[in-house]
Amino acid sequence: MSVKEIFETMDYGDALESAAEALRWLMDNGDRFGHFIGGKMTEPGEVFEARNPATGEVLAHLTQANEADVEAAVAAARKAQGKWAKDSKARARVLYALARLVQKHARLFAVLETLDNGKPIRESRDIDVALVARHFYYHAGMAQLMDAELPDREALGVCGQIIPWNFPLLMLAWKVAPAIAMGNTVVLKPAEYTSLTALLFAQICQEAGVPKGVVNIVTGDGAVGEMIVTHPDVDKIAFTGSTAVGRRIREATAGSGKSLTLELGGKSPYIVFEDADIDSAIEGLVDAIFFNQGQVCCAGSRLLVQEGIAEDFHKRLVARMSKLRIGNPLDKCIDVGAIVDPVQLDRIQNLVAKGGPEGTVHQPVKAPEGCYYPPTLISDLAPSSLLMQEEIFGPVLASTTFRTPAEAVQVANNTRYGLAASVWTENVNLALDIAPKLVAGVVWVNGSNIFDAAAGFGGVRESGYGREGGWEGLMAYTKPKGKATAVKPAKAHVKPDDIEVLGLDRTAKLYIGGKQARPDSGYSQAVYSPKGKLLGHSSIASRKDIRNAVEAAQKAGGWTKATAHNRAQVLYFVGENLSARADEFATRIRDMTGTTEAKAQAEVTGAIDTLFTYAAWCDKLDGAAKPVPMRGVALAMNEAVGVIGAFCDDRPLGGLIDVIAPTIAMGNRVVAVASEAYPLTATDFYQVLDTSDVPAGVVNILTGPHGDLAKTMAGHLDVDAVWSFSSAEISGGIERESAGNLKRTWVNNGQTREYPARDWLAQATEVKTIWVPYGE
Ligand code: NAI
Repeated sequence: MSVKEIFETMDYGDALESAAEALRWLMDNGDRFGHFIGGKMTEPGEVFEARNPATGEVLAHLTQANEADVEAAVAAARKAQGKWAKDSKARARVLYALARLVQKHARLFAVLETLDNGKPIRESRDIDVALVARHFYYHAGMAQLMDAELPDREALGVCGQIIPWNFPLLMLAWKVAPAIAMGNTVVLKPAEYTSLTALLFAQICQEAGVPKGVVNIVTGDGAVGEMIVTHPDVDKIAFTGSTAVGRRIREATAGSGKSLTLELGGKSPYIVFEDADIDSAIEGLVDAIFFNQGQVCCAGSRLLVQEGIAEDFHKRLVARMSKLRIGNPLDKCIDVGAIVDPVQLDRIQNLVAKGGPEGTVHQPVKAPEGCYYPPTLISDLAPSSLLMQEEIFGPVLASTTFRTPAEAVQVANNTRYGLAASVWTENVNLALDIAPKLVAGVVWVNGSNIFDAAAGFGGVRESGYGREGGWEGLMAYTKPKGKATAVKPAKAHVKPDDIEVLGLDRTAKLYIGGKQARPDSGYSQAVYSPKGKLLGHSSIASRKDIRNAVEAAQKAGGWTKATAHNRAQVLYFVGENLSARADEFATRIRDMTGTTEAKAQAEVTGAIDTLFTYAAWCDKLDGAAKPVPMRGVALAMNEAVGVIGAFCDDRPLGGLIDVIAPTIAMGNRVVAVASEAYPLTATDFYQVLDTSDVPAGVVNILTGPHGDLAKTMAGHLDVDAVWSFSSAEISGGIERESAGNLKRTWVNNGQTREYPARDWLAQATEVKTIWVPYGE
């Protein structure tokens, strides 16, 4: 098009970014790549093609890793880890060098990313690569500060990291930067569609002086991911990708002792109230759902618009969509680029063909031939419609309406996911009333898709667990210092032949919803002292009792809304009432376990101390206001996890209080299963609870065989987390069953260690990041 023609039509001219440098870089590498292992590129092996989705052209040939490659990468990472973990200041220098080199090669990274993934160059240049550099800078700082600020924490070891194709380099940075900053070494697998920027990053590692073996990159498909996941010498798996694969990884790692964080899918609501700044909300939607062709895990893919403005809003939205430019991603004026691969395009087309007829489809601009999908709005859907529920992962916005703020919250939370949400209103009271009610890890007030290294990112529910970014993100790559020791489960004392008969049968019941309840099974078990004295009977809880206890806990949601001050009062009161009966409890502990009087007394004193400690913590686990580099502040708010099921260790009282105190201090409700061998102290504790103003359902206590109960607890869809300090055998089962609704788990896998209060508190809370406009 000539300049004259451009002036006449006022249409956009071409503004193509040159691909020459990036193509030259590919050719310089002979267009065939091996893996990056032990600081060197390996020879290419069996290869597959990397294509440019915008043109279908083959860009390079990449090696499909085999078992030996993964073995070599893990071995290199293991070898490098000890030395790398020693000097955090040296690590800081290396991370800083990486940040600088990402900036130096920013243009090459951006063009290569766009060629490989199909995203508009405007985005890869201004968003992806800029955030990558920011992530390395931020974590260079974390490495620098680690000794001073995290003196009690250390690296996990070798981390396997599996990332998706939607933000190839950015996801690499989110994974690699915090891991290596904390002294871990990594084996990373990029997605098979988009591995090129990871391979360029490998070169940058060489330039930056990353010691060999600290970063290893192997390419290939899901089978390679599986090899990493199941490798016995990998200590942690960090995964970002689909919920289905996340679930498989949860199952595959169950019982292995590997740490796991999952950042999975989403179906994030975008809520527009009638008093919103409509033009801004529409511009925000362009960022929410058309950014990266909607291939964003936290895309605002469900529009909820208040009924009174819905018609006008949709009309204006369609008008705005009609101005979006879709086409060659290397064109700097393009808003919507290519879909990553024909497979994904097919998936989008099929979903829209299936669910579209439930609503009204608006596609004001046409997509060019090839791997493109036009910006799409589907209005008039019901909250339960297929497209309101399924993650499409394309530029498709599903829309419905609501009448009241309460209804908005209800519809917003009507999803199995919980990654992000946007709230649009000019009323600060309304925004900050709604934000805590949304079940999501991230909430943007009058914004969308805003990210920063200082602000935690991650989900709840089936969107996964763990946070990336901020101090909270470091939890995923560190553990408390100190050795773990093997758990030795206690054995219940057995019935002697010449049993001493007590006059009165005392069968302790279960404690559910603030009341003593008979077990559904009708069975109980005798509890003997080491010398064979019958001490009493405890109930054998079954599946139905777990269900009743969880239901009672669910109903006690008022506790989560109680003020931290009120929760502290209740915990202090429990501690006080326990101390009034300390001798009685110590006697019981001694009778059941056969321990010394002094040790029994010490256990009771320790339990009282734990109650006072977490009473103290109730109103002191501060959130944070993150200094993000934009006109806003990211608030990190600690929220209760919800209903936590917990299997106690064999300290009859200490084990019970260890799980009750931190959970309820943070506003959770708990279903605690007492020590299997020594259950009676827990049943004595009911009376302490009854006299301490603990609302019904906040603490529920069951007794019975952990093995049988663990499966039901971990599989229950209304349980949000399961902890286990019981025997190793139940850990794996809990992790496996938890895959159903991807609940959080914290299990010992047969290893016990002293956890500082901060760890208990972190397990009892979720960080919600709330982005609020702030400042100039
Ligand atoms: P995916 O979850 O299959 O792939 C993500 C990564 O996991 C890739 O590196 C892949 O090679 C690897 N992987 C696949 N199977 C594995 C296994 N069994 N063990 C270990 N690693 C494995 O995602 P895919 O197939 O590329 O996309 C399918 C759908 O997933 C998309 O349509 C979208 O809905 C969703 N998705 C969500 C993402 C998110 O960030 N939430 C990212 C990518 C996809």
